[in-house]
Amino acid sequence: MLSRQPQNKSVDEAPARTLLSSLQRQEMEIDLLLQSVYQLYGYDFRHYAKASLHRRINNVIIREQLNNVAELIPLIVHDQYAFDRFLQEMSITVTAMFRDPGLFQLLKQKVLIKLQTYPRINIWHAGCATGEEVYSMAIMLHEAGLLERSRIYATDYNNQALTIAEKGIYPLKNMRQYSENYQRAGGEYSLSDYCHQKYSEVLFDAKLRDKITFAHHNLMKDQGFAQMHLVLCRNVLIYFDNHLKDRVLQMISNSLVTRGFLMLGDKETINLSSVAQQFESVSARSRIYQKKIQIVSDVSGVVPEADPALVGGSLN
Ligand SMILES: C[S@@+](CC[C@H](N)C(=O)[O-])C[C@H]1O[C@@H](n2cnc3c(N)ncnc32)[C@H](O)[C@@H]1O
Repeated sequence: MLSRQPQNKSVDEAPARTLLSSLQRQEMEIDLLLQSVYQLYGYDFRHYAKASLHRRINNVIIREQLNNVAELIPLIVHDQYAFDRFLQEMSITVTAMFRDPGLFQLLKQKVLIKLQTYPRINIWHAGCATGEEVYSMAIMLHEAGLLERSRIYATDYNNQALTIAEKGIYPLKNMRQYSENYQRAGGEYSLSDYCHQKYSEVLFDAKLRDKITFAHHNLMKDQGFAQMHLVLCRNVLIYFDNHLKDRVLQMISNSLVTRGFLMLGDKETINLSSVAQQFESVSARSRIYQKKIQIVSDVSGVVPEADPALVGGSLN
């Protein structure tokens, strides 16, 4: 046995080295996989939160009937369809209409009431999945009398999800739950007033769909939109590490007009991020934030007074 050890190493060192190298090897293989995905397909998952990323990669290995990450790399590199399946697994599209109904009530009471002073309202749903959140927003805007002057941008990097969102067709079996959410969110009519049933599906009205622009957008690398009055990025940041979270939050902040609003998911916060100072909380229990007026000091160190024209006064 001893003769099998490297000559200058003690026997005690061997097990630790073996264990470490197996963990290191797996980390290295995952790094190689993510590097290959980035170089070949332009998707940079290197800044996704490790625990959930590893779980998803493991799911891919099982589904593709492979033994380890090393076997997954050549498959992803040489087979575009295998990459498409990988991308689907990375994208968690769980969503619902009026998800967190209390938040939609706050949207109405605290945000839409301020947005109504604008002649045109721009809203961006970043990570819209299959679109249920977006149609919920369009309904809220309609009931507040704001839909006509609104433009909603709904983006995701998952094209399959976007295709469903664009069609606005959802399973009938979900409608009972969605109707309950709608009522709890303070809906004024019946959710069925906004859609038509066809067999086991419902199709949302064209008057809602016409106000929505669906587009492919990758938060890992694409630029933000300009002049947004409200950005929703709900249940997306939880999948990112702190570095990517910061980058995306900064991009969203740059996309917002002064005094514009940001809504996150109930497990997400801007506290501890680099943009925390740029926002104030709209209500303590919500994840709704409003962008502060930025006061930039000039070279003399004197802080100039904020120009009321830039403040968007009515949003204060
Ligand atoms: C859990 S869903 C959230 C849907 C909706 N916002 C909600 O809260 O109900 C997360 C969505 O974020 C999208 N997503 C994740 N990473 C993304 C990225 N880098 N760029 C664009 N979308 C991304 C996923 O494809 C998925 O559709």
